[in-house]
Amino acid sequence: MEAIYLTGFMGAGKTTVGQQLAQNMKLPVIDTDQEIVKKLNKSIKEIFEENGEAFFRDQETKILKELPTKDVIITTGGGIVIKDENRAWMKEHGNIVMLHADIDTIYERVSSDKTRPLASKKSKQELNDLYQSRVNFYDDCTILIETDQKNIEDIVNEISIRLN
Ligand code: S3P
Repeated sequence: MEAIYLTGFMGAGKTTVGQQLAQNMKLPVIDTDQEIVKKLNKSIKEIFEENGEAFFRDQETKILKELPTKDVIITTGGGIVIKDENRAWMKEHGNIVMLHADIDTIYERVSSDKTRPLASKKSKQELNDLYQSRVNFYDDCTILIETDQKNIEDIVNEISIRLN
């Protein structure tokens, strides 16, 4: 089976959904951010502060291309979609599943999270502006899943059905 790439804005639930989906489908799950952290032995926050966003984006692309492309669920960082190269890779090697959540939900989940350099200290308007600047990239996916008012099981079931 081709890879399943879970995408979506910060706080959309990619990690939680990815883990449950992996359990249901009996597939391994790999997270691009976690792989970068392991490789560089630094937190995402430290990488942004010490090396800058451009460096992080290069690492993200490298990791994406090093990961397996068969029988695997890959959860991605919310910004992976901004590079055409990354979207092209994910489309070529699998299905891009995009999780969508309302900006109110996102704001509640991420605004006080100090580990997310692009979310902490941002107002709801600023977060929404960042989301809007990426919306066309998120929409460039295979399967779009609305997550608001749904529990994890519903979301995971919907993904499984849509993948068939
Ligand atoms: C980012 C999202 C983060 C992480 C980094 C940049 C983004 O991942 O990759 O902080 O640009 O949206 P999550 O979507 O898991 O928070």
